[in-house]
Amino acid sequence: MVTQYFRITDPETQREELAQAAAILREGGLLGIPTETVYGLGANGLNTDAVNRIFLAKGRPQDNPLILHIPGPRWLSRYCRNVPPAAYELAERFWPGPLTMILRRRANVPNAVTAGLDTVGVRCPDHPVTLAIIREAGVPVAAPSGNLSGRPSPTCARHMAEDMDGRIDGIVDGGPCQVGVESTILDLTTPIPRLLRPGGLPLEALEEVLGEVAVDKAVTAPLSAGEKPRAPGMKYRHYAPKAPVTVVTGDSRRTARYIRERLGERTGVICFDEYREDFPGCVVEDIGSVADKAEQARRVFDALRAFDDTDVTAIFAQCPGDGGLGLAVANRLKKAAGFQIVDLGEGA
Ligand code: TXA
Ligand code: MG
Repeated sequence: MVTQYFRITDPETQREELAQAAAILREGGLLGIPTETVYGLGANGLNTDAVNRIFLAKGRPQDNPLILHIPGPRWLSRYCRNVPPAAYELAERFWPGPLTMILRRRANVPNAVTAGLDTVGVRCPDHPVTLAIIREAGVPVAAPSGNLSGRPSPTCARHMAEDMDGRIDGIVDGGPCQVGVESTILDLTTPIPRLLRPGGLPLEALEEVLGEVAVDKAVTAPLSAGEKPRAPGMKYRHYAPKAPVTVVTGDSRRTARYIRERLGERTGVICFDEYREDFPGCVVEDIGSVADKAEQARRVFDALRAFDDTDVTAIFAQCPGDGGLGLAVANRLKKAAGFQIVDLGEGA
């Protein structure tokens, strides 16, 4: 299959390109789409055949459900039932934006999207090009992150092409992603709303609106054998470079020292900018300043992806604390490490 490329910077004036991209979706094809979080691999979310092709292109396990992307809260009641007032409140406050809500689904949502669950994830992405494409196509767009299953999520069109060129009908280049980690997933079907995946919208922002939010165990700890996470995707090894990763948590000076004492022949290091010069002879990927978690979120997947073009045999990563976007950055690093974590605690 030949993949068609679109570069859309202004959906207002590039009507022709927009119409072609939307036609791919409407006709049952697969389209790489930019969002503020990561690039997605989109298909018409009402077309079972099209949705099944997403799983084939990614090599994704069939039991891992997809998120429906919609242009705004007005579409919620088309695909969800028993939508609680809190969902509208959150949509009002945070959409378009990096929040996916899990709600009861209507029967018109194909089983292929929900992996047979009685619930569906919905979100309104904050990207003008993709919002315009969804409106033009007139259908909800089912889209997982646009990586091959198991690889780090793509945060620019080039990474999307790396994994999907020749496997899908088109890729829309809408520039680099502004958030860099996927959306926050919140289950609103439980008595106390539950965070299933930390992401681009911090937990603290949800707590401000909702009060109590439960945090699913799979967010911070590995699952024991046979344990079932509430977001099926959280059980898979993910974001993993080819070389094994060890995450080191705690005060950044201590984690830098710990890593420095363990450098081998071909070691890769993910570190904060302040420590960039501390690992001579290593392949170093810096992810932003210690205090700048938004920048860390933007760069963490690129850093993980970069090691696969090198010959490193082991990777160490400094890891931010759990506040704000740190929870999402730490979760992605820990998942890449298969939860191989060394905790040095706080203090100098
Ligand atoms: O930012 C994002 O959310 C990106 C962009 C493209 O929108 N999408 C994304 O999709 O990250 P994906 O498929 O890579 O991750 C979706 C996660 C999976 O872990 C899946 O198991 C979970 O959402 N999920 C989807 N529907 C669910 C449901 N009904 N109940 C529980 N978890 C669900
Ligand atoms: Mg994904």
